[in-house]
Amino acid sequence: MKALILSGGKGSRLRPLTHTGAKQLIPVANKPIIYYGLEDIVEAGIKDIGIIVGKETKNDVKRGVGDGKRWGVNIQYIYQEEPLGIAHCVKISRDFLMDEPFIMYLGDNILATDLSLFIREFEDSSANALVLLTEVDNPQQFGVVELDDENHIKRLVEKPKKPPTNLALVGVYLFDKNIYKAVEKIKPSWRNELEITDAIQWLIDNGYKVLPHKVQGWWKDTGKPEDVLEANRFILSTLKGGILENASIDSESAIEGEIQLEEGVRIQRSVIRGPVVIGKGTKILNSYIGPYTSIYYGCTIKNSEIENSIILENTKIIDSPFRLDSCLIGKEVEISKGSGKPKAISLILGDRSKMCLP
Ligand code: DAU
Repeated sequence: MKALILSGGKGSRLRPLTHTGAKQLIPVANKPIIYYGLEDIVEAGIKDIGIIVGKETKNDVKRGVGDGKRWGVNIQYIYQEEPLGIAHCVKISRDFLMDEPFIMYLGDNILATDLSLFIREFEDSSANALVLLTEVDNPQQFGVVELDDENHIKRLVEKPKKPPTNLALVGVYLFDKNIYKAVEKIKPSWRNELEITDAIQWLIDNGYKVLPHKVQGWWKDTGKPEDVLEANRFILSTLKGGILENASIDSESAIEGEIQLEEGVRIQRSVIRGPVVIGKGTKILNSYIGPYTSIYYGCTIKNSEIENSIILENTKIIDSPFRLDSCLIGKEVEISKGSGKPKAISLILGDRSKMCLP
């Protein structure tokens, strides 16, 4: 069995962060999103992994993931010139997959479940595909599946305006080589993409066996900022704290709950209320860091309060007059207090930035 991780695309719903970086590398609980799927694939014993990259993501993903040696696997990159759809990714990966069965994992999904369960179920069955399903509140935003009375898949539809059910397709799929016939037959959808849902429907319509499997564990598609923050809350809620030896906390600071401090973190005159993770070399001075906050490496937080947020590398938040809450802040951002007069907010925001004033 091989694996295919999809990490191309434009990440338009996560702009402006995706103007300067791939969405799959945004850190959730200080770990790039793509690592969650990748590490679960490695854990399931798969050694050959192809990663789809596009124009906007290729440099970042190659730099952030590398050749796989650190996980003891081989990673090959497959370049997709334009994001022409998930089924298009399957089509261009055939040379790499070489007719072997494979697991396809969408690189912006996080699924907190042991993949080997599904892999075994697929291998032990005579199915041509296995799809994972879960109930969601907003089925309009996903591929949606309708089952018959015997739990066979009747119909799949991509982002329906009037969803027939609330059973969404999770972005993890298992296929055998028959999927190549399907991706050759289907036509681009209204959004000009070759949809994997249409390819799976083609398999069903042509008598191939597609197994549905309802997922019990937690799952998130991190397509939008609020999804990334929710994923961060979920992962941090399972955090086991730990403080690396050369991280320092002074005697005037208070630490509560599960806190993970990486190498060289310095905490002075501050309150840290977990679950919180703080990356390498970050300094927290005279500040409050509240629950469900992930601060990446090289940041400085001084005379400020923040909670339920993600802050990317090398960002500085100094003398913020307001508590920051539910923020997704990019790399090398600077937030500070003005000189006092005129009493105004002074901004340099990138394209498609969002700001919500109190
Ligand atoms: O997350 C689950 C959903 O994922 C399913 O319920 C839908 O049926 C499925 O179509 C997909 O929908 P999205 O609209 O959320 O897919 P998105 O465009 O966000 O792409 C998912 C990942 O695949 C993302 O990491 C980018 C990558 N991708 C996407 C396209 C369209 C590529 O690498 N190339 C592409 O051409």
